[in-house]
Amino acid sequence: MTSSVSSASLVDRKLVVKSQGAPTGTDLYAADSVRQLFDRMSRTYERVNVVLSLGFSARWRRQLARLAPMQRRGASILDAMCGMGETWDVLTRRFADARFSALDFSPQMTGRARVRNLSRHAGRFAVLERDMLASGLPDASFDLVISAYGVKTFDQEQSVRFADELARILRPGGTFAFIEVTEPPSLLLRMLYGLYIGTIVPALARLLVADTEQYRMLGRYLRAYGDGRRTLDALAGHPLLVVEARKHFFGCATSFSGYRLAQAARP
Ligand SMILES: C[S@@+](CC[C@H](N)C(=O)[O-])C[C@H]1O[C@@H](n2cnc3c(N)ncnc32)[C@H](O)[C@@H]1O
Repeated sequence: MTSSVSSASLVDRKLVVKSQGAPTGTDLYAADSVRQLFDRMSRTYERVNVVLSLGFSARWRRQLARLAPMQRRGASILDAMCGMGETWDVLTRRFADARFSALDFSPQMTGRARVRNLSRHAGRFAVLERDMLASGLPDASFDLVISAYGVKTFDQEQSVRFADELARILRPGGTFAFIEVTEPPSLLLRMLYGLYIGTIVPALARLLVADTEQYRMLGRYLRAYGDGRRTLDALAGHPLLVVEARKHFFGCATSFSGYRLAQAARP
């Protein structure tokens, strides 16, 4: 189930709770903290993620791929914050004739992504171990940039840098689509969501893996991310980007999709 919301309505809602309280400038969002967290999680992430999300993570990846418009033959697509390539099956099904790059700054995640690339995708992904906020990728080099669950670990200032980098590497007219787990608007669902990420996820993680600290940390990022307002603000605030936010499954996930203008709509 998806519903489209304008950026204004998402921004204006009073129930944007935790994103204002996101601890900006602390170690939580330092590149090393995030990189080390995902390095440590890489062994269990895929298996645990499917179980803990009750299958929604895979469903939302499919919805994410459908949000991106069909691409011409040979189009250049970047999977940003690709993890170990969890989104690649849906991407290669939808964009069979595209050229793919995938970027992540965790050596463990990219190491596993490279194994998946060879074993399941005949090496068609160029896997790059780089920081998305200083990617070094050429200007105007992508027709589509996509990311599943990759933007919650950017604080407000990093989200603005991400929007700058996105506008720089997209061709004029190029498109983007991101999806992230978010806090739902309904009070009841929000209480259940809080209980789920605060108590149930760590408990389930304990059953599945020995070290649950990483899954507690993930809960911290999700609580601070709230309804995703900071991503929307950063994308909507960029003069070259046009963005639309959509809620998925009553707002338990939010996608941000849009395109890059040829020239700024406003000074
Ligand atoms: C929750 S995982 C998502 C992985 C995958 N996209 C998926 O669909 O499950 C987030 C990934 O973003 C990566 N990441 C976070 N910040 C990054 C940055 N600044 N540059 C590159 N990768 C980053 C992490 O290393 C991690 O692998």
